[in-house]
Amino acid sequence: MSSITPIRVYPDSTWSEDGPTRGVEAVIEAGEVLQFPNLPFVLTPAERKFLDPRWADAKAKNISVRWPANELRGAAGDAADLAALQAMIGRYAEQSEALALRLFPHYRGHLRRGNSSFRTVNVAGRETSWRKDDTRLHVDAFPSNPMQGTRLLRVFCNINPNGLPRQWRVGEPFEDHAKRYLPKIGRPIYGSAALLEMLHITKRRRTESDHLMLKLHDLAKADAEFQRSSPQARVDFAPGTTWVVFSDQVLHAAMGGQYMMEQTFYLDAAHQQRPEASPRGTLERLLGRELR
Ligand SMILES: [Fe+2]
Repeated sequence: MSSITPIRVYPDSTWSEDGPTRGVEAVIEAGEVLQFPNLPFVLTPAERKFLDPRWADAKAKNISVRWPANELRGAAGDAADLAALQAMIGRYAEQSEALALRLFPHYRGHLRRGNSSFRTVNVAGRETSWRKDDTRLHVDAFPSNPMQGTRLLRVFCNINPNGLPRQWRVGEPFEDHAKRYLPKIGRPIYGSAALLEMLHITKRRRTESDHLMLKLHDLAKADAEFQRSSPQARVDFAPGTTWVVFSDQVLHAAMGGQYMMEQTFYLDAAHQQRPEASPRGTLERLLGRELR
């Protein structure tokens, strides 16, 4: 494996406004992973019982809270336990938001809170199709949920109680990745985006940038040689570690671990410090034309 390590380590030990790191938009927009090894999400003694897969209902991949409704999904238990789970996940959302606004003051007023989730499933035991297999390097892109150029900013925290790290692989820079596969990607079939939207296969119109991102996701995951031999680094996120990443930009794969918190934020690329550094901006530059 190559020695690239696009990881930047910060000493912060608090989520709140008075932590030391702020104004690091340029670092995350450059496609680095921001790692905080001393920033645990602390469970109360009563919450520790939730570190058990039995709280996830059988069909769900994770337990989540949706906003703005503050609605708990994917959990099974009695009313008091569900309320406590919801409060725990809600606290993670609040702390993540405070951290994100301190790290990225330029995004204030523009970060939209997406789902908060608590993943109880062990990565190693997950059985799935190649397209859903997140142990393969990929950028995040979803067939039914076109982002239309909106960025996916994610705050993760490993809360494993038994010392088990969250093991990731992190891959090549986005621009290299786009150059690798762009020549293999054709234009969307004329009229297909309108049809997918009409049939409610997609939640909104799949733009050409969505088409390209989805193809990058699929081509990378389907390419065994790429998975094996492309430039990449292994990263272990120990329990008590928080990390922040633009997951639509950083090539990543989850290789192992259990019990993790995750908060998604949406950010219109126009509100980045450098919108041209976004995946869509990079694709436009490489293609020499504007994408919708
Ligand atoms: Fe992913």
